[in-house]
Parts: sequence; C-alpha cells; structure tokens
Amino acid sequence: MLDRRRFLGASATGLAATLAFRPSLFAQLAKAPASLPELSLYDKNEDAYWAEMRKQFLIPEEEVYLNNGTVGSSPAPVLRAIFEGYNTTERLDQQDPEDYPIWGYAAWNEFRDPLAEFVGCKRDEIALLRNATEANSYIANGIDMKAGDEVVMTDQEHPGGEGPWELRAKRYGIVVKKVPLPKPVRDPNQVLNLFSDAITPRTRVMFFSHITTYSGVVLPVKELSALARSKSILSAVDGAHVPGMMRFNLHELGCDMYSSSPHKWLQAPKGSGFLYVRDEVIDRVWNTIATEGWDEPKIRAERFQRIGSSNVPALWGLRASIKLANDIGMDRIERRHRQLCDYILAEMIKRGAESWTSPDPAMRCAIATVNVPPIDRINLENSLWKQHKIRIRGGNPSKLRLSTPYYLSKKDIDRFLEKFDGYKREKRLS
Ligand SMILES: Cc1ncc(COP(=O)(O)O)c(C=O)c1O
Repeated sequence: MLDRRRFLGASATGLAATLAFRPSLFAQLAKAPASLPELSLYDKNEDAYWAEMRKQFLIPEEEVYLNNGTVGSSPAPVLRAIFEGYNTTERLDQQDPEDYPIWGYAAWNEFRDPLAEFVGCKRDEIALLRNATEANSYIANGIDMKAGDEVVMTDQEHPGGEGPWELRAKRYGIVVKKVPLPKPVRDPNQVLNLFSDAITPRTRVMFFSHITTYSGVVLPVKELSALARSKSILSAVDGAHVPGMMRFNLHELGCDMYSSSPHKWLQAPKGSGFLYVRDEVIDRVWNTIATEGWDEPKIRAERFQRIGSSNVPALWGLRASIKLANDIGMDRIERRHRQLCDYILAEMIKRGAESWTSPDPAMRCAIATVNVPPIDRINLENSLWKQHKIRIRGGNPSKLRLSTPYYLSKKDIDRFLEKFDGYKREKRLS
C-alpha cells in the first residue's frame, strides 16, 4: 500500500502537496492548546514559553514566516473569538428588533473601549475602521486645505499613506513635499532637522510613519508632533506597524491623528483598523464616507466609523487580539521582538549585508532591513519559499525586510540564515 509520504512524492510535489493535505481549520484549532502557557514558564525559560505560544498559531511548524510586516497570522484565541462572533450574531435573534449584526452605524463601545485603553486614548477619540489605508484616506481628505498648501512627509511612506495625499494633490492642487530619510537613520535629530527645514508658511500637515514600511525605522513621533504643534501644523501619524509590536500611548505621543492596521503585529483579523483623532482636532476633520451621523459633532470620533454595514465578528477577533497581547504582556512581547530582530540583524551584518536598520536601539524594534547586492531579492524570495518554506519580503533590487514576530524561534532564524548562505554558495556569491 502506498503510504502518505510516497503518495505525495508520486502524485504531487512541494507546496501543492502540502496544501492538499492541510488539516481543516477546525481540526487545527482543536489541536491548539486550550490555554496560553503559564507566565511562570516565561520566568524559568523564555524560549520554552515562546515555543509553547507558537502552538497557538496555524502557520505550519516547518514554515518560517519572516513577513509579519505585511500581515500577521491570527492565532487560535483570535480565531475562536471570530467564530463565536459569527455564532452569536448570525442567529439574528437579538433582543432588540432594531439591533443588527453590522457595525458602521453605531458606537460599538464594547470594542472601542478595550482598544482605546490599549492605545492610550479616550473612547470618543477612536473610530473602528478596516485598515490604515482607509484611516489615512480619512485624514488626507478630511482636513481643509487650499491649492498650494503643503503636506510634508518622508520618502519612506507606504502607498496607503502617501497615495491619499498624492491623489488630493493631483485633483485639488495641494503640494506634497518629501524629505529623504538617510539609510539608515542614525539619530532622531536627523529626522527633526529634515522636517524643520522643510516647513514653510504654507505647511499645514506633517505626515509620517511611526515605523516605516521601507526600513522599519521607529521615528521620533513625540518630538515631531511637538515640532508640528509649535508651528500650528497638524501632525498625522501612520502607525500601521505599531500596535502589538511595541508599547505606545497616543496621549503621550501627542500627535493629532493616528492610523493603524492591527492585523499586522497585533495578529488581529484582517480588516480591523482604526483612526485616532485627538479630541481638540475632531471638529476640524470632515467625513470622507457619509451616512447617518456624518454631521453629528456630538458623537465625536464615532462619526468616522459610520461607514455602512461592516463585519462585526472581525471586531470580536480584534478584542481577543488585544486580550491576548495583554495576557502575554506587551513588555514581554516587545522584549522578544527586539531580541529576535537584533539577532537576525547582527547575523546579516556578519554576512556582509549593508544595514539600513537604525543602529540606535530606540529607533528599531521588530523589522530589520538590509541591502544585499548583487542578490536579486525576488529570486531569493521565491527560492526560499519554494524550496524551504521560508517566507521573506523586501524591495527591488536587493533589499530584504526581515520581520521578527514573537512566535518565531531562534532556530527558525538560524534555518533562514543557513538557507541564505546556501543560496549565496549556489549562485557563487560568496
Ligand atoms: C506604514 C504602512 N502604512 C500603511 C500600510 C497599509 O496597510 P493596510 O493595507 O492594512 O491598509 C502598510 C502596509 O504594509 C504600512 O507598512
């Protein structure tokens, strides 16, 4: 009789075969431990604790996922919450006949409250949206600006951050000015000086990523926001990467607006984003999407989450992802992120990579970016995935962006390093 392995060899290969024999989602969830590892295990042996935590994730054991920067993976507690959300809401047996399982028309404070607490703001300053792109579009379209008025941003913004401003520039004649960040940024003052020099009497907004998609640099949000405030300029921050990657507090940062995508580092369901607008600024921001409530200032930032029917179970998942991060502890998560990132970065530098990651530990966290010419990153990316189930991402021609979420192990990183070395040997690049 043909056993499973020989059958795979005979009928299909590699990825296709793996996909064909993937157990059902519910079977995988049933296999995941019902509770999180005890924190006493963390105190005894951090690696053992994280190895236990890894069992909460559906990513196959043999896969090394170094691209959490694009999108995270919702673990068992989050997935269970989403299904519970469906199970509860799809019965359509709500007590109040006016109550429907949709968000987009109401406050949904049971989800806004834990989020507001997690990010350090008031419930009334936060709107549940679907991603950072949507929130950034709200910001860029919502502020009164005349033709010739300027927004200053970095040259490392994501298309979902700079695009909304560029659209407005093309359509209505505002001016987008980009300051070129050094690669790497070595010191917060470099960034402050670049922005300070770019400001003119026409500058209305400073827009910048808290952590850039391009190099993973953590920008000095507090200082940049203070600079903006001192010149009566609005500060708008793209924080797509931040919740779940490192600790932060919106009121302490002091920015006027903040967008995010918790489906990255908080491992929340895809399509759960938010927009923060500081209370004093809310009345200056117009709605982009308009339905019932768009012109009701008293509902504060809830006005911006009136986006029409949307998916409530995603919010159950978002709430569970916040609970998970709190249960583990953001200090532990951030520490793990930093340890893994520092490790991969040091190893890549040993291998001759040019680091585009800040040498200042306060300006990096869980994304290491290196330039490795003459390696063609797409070729490397495809080869690592197809041959070794290692998933990376980067930018052409030779930039690698290596994300180090807490659920990776040092062994995973070593496997990437070994295969990276092997690729270089095979291509006669070392
Ligand atoms: C800094 C930054 N902003 C915005 C986005 C867009 O995120 P989303 O697709 O979730 O809107 C990304 C995605 O990688 C990003 O890195």
